[in-house]
Amino acid sequence: MIDAISFNDQTLRYLDQRYLPLREEYVSTRSHQDAIEAIKTLAVRGAPLIGVAAAYTVILGINSFKGSKEEFPAFFGTLIADVEASRPTAVNLFFAAARLKKVYDDNFQADTIEALFAKMLEAAVKIHDDEIANCDAMSRHGVELIKSDLAEILKKRKLNVLTHCNTGTLATGGSGTALGVIKLAWQEGLIERVITAESRPLLQGLRLTAWELEQEKIPFISISDSSSAFLMQRGMIDFGIVGADRIAANGDTANKIGTCAHAISAWHHNLPFYIAAPVSTIDITLSDGTQIPIEERNADELRTIFGTQVATPTTPVLNYAFDVTPGKYLRGIITDKKAVVGNYESELKLIV
Ligand code: MRU
Repeated sequence: MIDAISFNDQTLRYLDQRYLPLREEYVSTRSHQDAIEAIKTLAVRGAPLIGVAAAYTVILGINSFKGSKEEFPAFFGTLIADVEASRPTAVNLFFAAARLKKVYDDNFQADTIEALFAKMLEAAVKIHDDEIANCDAMSRHGVELIKSDLAEILKKRKLNVLTHCNTGTLATGGSGTALGVIKLAWQEGLIERVITAESRPLLQGLRLTAWELEQEKIPFISISDSSSAFLMQRGMIDFGIVGADRIAANGDTANKIGTCAHAISAWHHNLPFYIAAPVSTIDITLSDGTQIPIEERNADELRTIFGTQVATPTTPVLNYAFDVTPGKYLRGIITDKKAVVGNYESELKLIV
């Protein structure tokens, strides 16, 4: 049983994903600075889990507060800003921070500090519980859509599905977004094999998705990121499904770098390509994907492969962690509320 994150007795405990699948190392901390570092270094990662981790990080921060009630607003402002500065793209992080800030705004005047902290903890636990429940709802909507879109093939055989990065329990705390849909589709007998793209440079597909699928005993095969078009050409992929870090109002979707190439290849080969993401990943304030802030990570993630230098330290590198897939390449966006098929501009705003 994977326990990606938990919070008990004022302590945050998480599985350090940097060492998987070779080492299962759980870390416990009461320090919000440690928790921020865990988000920055991808020890905890995946958009919904980043949101949950951010919420608990705020709780760790307020628990460390020793000042008077008058001193709290300045402390809290800095804490929220520090949490928000940890990673820029996954909007779930900002969504979680905003929810806790609202609890503060609504209750600070009337409540004692103790009563306020209790309400904030309750809100953080609810964010966590909601993300778990969202995965189950998304999986159900996703499986329904896949059954209907791919009904003709399903009359003859099971399906081969492409996925990218890691969108399972490790990324959500629940069954997963895209991987949650895949797991349920497997349980319902719809899946022949999962094809996991490695997801360079940090290999979330090769290391983490493969590890989760192995635990679930779901058949899979790992490929390099650049193989997907060739497999589609050979008829080895029936559809693709991935998660999201931020979805703009028109359906343009930021997800792990490499996603857009898979989606365009799927479109070229007339294969459905889906996004599965909770409503907490939709950023209705952004009209299109050009406005999504895209994280650029350290050049050494590319110049080295897990500690081994493979390029000179002076090789110029561009290391975007995410790309943006235009909504027109997506067959559907599967959320916890419903699966939206096309018309993103008019439909997404109705469910946020
Ligand atoms: O950099 P990461 O590992 O946090 O990126 C994660 C992804 O891009 C996932 O595909 C996305 O967050 C969806 S997770 C359910």
